[in-house]
Amino acid sequence: MRATRIIRSEIGDEKIEAAIVLGSGLSSIAGLLSEKTVLPYSELPGFPGFGRSSAGVSGHGSDLLIGRLGGRHVAILSGREHYYEHGNADAMRPALETMHDLGATTLFLTNSAGSLDEQVRPGDLMLIRDHINYAGINPLIGEATDRRFVNMVDAYDPALREISISLATKLGFTLKQGVYLWYSGPSFETVAEIRMAIALGANSVGMSTAPEVIIARMLGFRVWACSGITNMGAGLADEEISHDQTRNVAAICARKFEKLLFALVQQFPSGPSAAQGSGELAAGSS
Ligand code: HPA
Repeated sequence: MRATRIIRSEIGDEKIEAAIVLGSGLSSIAGLLSEKTVLPYSELPGFPGFGRSSAGVSGHGSDLLIGRLGGRHVAILSGREHYYEHGNADAMRPALETMHDLGATTLFLTNSAGSLDEQVRPGDLMLIRDHINYAGINPLIGEATDRRFVNMVDAYDPALREISISLATKLGFTLKQGVYLWYSGPSFETVAEIRMAIALGANSVGMSTAPEVIIARMLGFRVWACSGITNMGAGLADEEISHDQTRNVAAICARKFEKLLFALVQQFPSGPSAAQGSGELAAGSS
């Protein structure tokens, strides 16, 4: 893969242990990295915005940063391409495959989301324990091999969730887990759609992450994902929902993410998760 070769020529042979994807307004988290090499996506074939000058959504970075975090050798993907930008659910696949080629076995995903749970307010983090693919689009459509039959049970690694909940308590905040509903965007939800999402059992709603988790599980990554809650879902609070508000509140969430990720990255187990990984045919998929 061309991107892998370009990155290797910059960083040498050392394996990357994990990749971290930063969501809207969370690019300050990249400041945690030391000894870093910065590579703009625009120079990495297959990455969002390759050959262009920007990744497209304000509040999103568009750089790959590789360096040390909590003693581990990690890559930070500062910025993602969303389905709503060009209608490509698999837009992050080449970047995730590159992380896999570089040796990463764990993927930490962050995003911004609206809360559907009265107990989880703007500025809080919510750990994702499962998702509902309400967008109904699958990034593996067109994948011609049997690897496409990905088992999604425990896609959000139970051990990593347990570790992060106890770390958050030690850091002085509560981390609730919830079901994230992927809504395509880019418009926010209607009040009726939010009521439907609650009825379906969702605890948060957002415009990213689920397709990346599907791809990552096919590739065998151990996956952890967490939302920075920037607003209550439409109709659940008096405030007006906007992209500006998402960015502003995400900056508050970023402080908590920095503490949590710094602690978590020091503790995550090395190696892929036991649940899935080789891309073998799932039972009942034929
Ligand atoms: N809906 C969808 N995506 C979001 C929201 C929301 O309320 N807040 C931040 N991202």
